[in-house]
Amino acid sequence: MKTIANKVALVTGSNRGIGFAVVKGLAEQGITVVLTSRNEKDGRAALDQLDDSNVYYHPLDVTSTESVQKLVEYVTKTFGRLDILINNAGINYDTWQNVSDADLENVQETLNTNVLGPWRMSQAFLSLMQRNHFGRIVNVSSSSGELAALSGETPGYSISKVALNALTISLARHLQNKNILVNAVCPGWVRTDMGGAGAPKSPEEGAATIIWAALLPDNGPTAKFFRDKSEIAW
Ligand SMILES: NC(=O)c1ccc[n+]([C@@H]2O[C@H](COP(=O)([O-])OP(=O)(O)OC[C@H]3O[C@@H](n4cnc5c(N)ncnc54)[C@H](OP(=O)(O)O)[C@@H]3O)[C@@H](O)[C@H]2O)c1
Repeated sequence: MKTIANKVALVTGSNRGIGFAVVKGLAEQGITVVLTSRNEKDGRAALDQLDDSNVYYHPLDVTSTESVQKLVEYVTKTFGRLDILINNAGINYDTWQNVSDADLENVQETLNTNVLGPWRMSQAFLSLMQRNHFGRIVNVSSSSGELAALSGETPGYSISKVALNALTISLARHLQNKNILVNAVCPGWVRTDMGGAGAPKSPEEGAATIIWAALLPDNGPTAKFFRDKSEIAW
């Protein structure tokens, strides 16, 4: 087994968009990062753009228990640790439906990726974090998941982010005093395939608070929701 001196991070859905910018930003801080994607060709193409020996690649579909398990085996064998988990992969900003007419199969698919994906990943990697008494889990959420903002629009997406925020609080409190900090971050409105070309923030700007939450010190906050490095209301 190789000896990895620095911290090891893993970012879900990191072949493009905010996830890719998070990989770049963490690697620039000297962190060893595992870039993951559900499509191997896309992931390897993203890795090639980085030309950074601190970045490794492994396939991952967060909806598949088998895929997650293979990744756990890879990380355990290659690094023997995982310090930082960024649950970034997310789908389906469903602007075409509302809560009264939403296609529930579509909602189910959204929940499977946006909520059960982070839940599955957190469960799978917790024992590696607990082994080192160190962990930072960042769940990439959205202002659409703020309870006060719920309006019946983008119903699958918004309710998935409310549930992701609930998972954040639940897991954080369960892990209290174990030096595993679990927080949710809203990246703001970001120019990606999901956010569209008209969004005000670059992927790097969207990644900044996620990276900040990934690098919190041992006495840092947990069970909180942040945007622009400031706490916001659930
Ligand atoms: N952009 C915004 O304005 C904005 C605002 C608030 C919150 N967010 C959140 O930020 C996160 C990243 O969004 P983004 O804007 O960067 O979106 P994006 O450009 O659409 O990228 C989404 C990423 O998630 C991956 N993904 C989707 N389903 C997956 C699965 N089952 N397993 C593994 N990876 C999967 C995609 O892979 P493929 O390439 O294979 O599709 C892609 O890499 C999401 O959680 C999103 O909800 C974004």
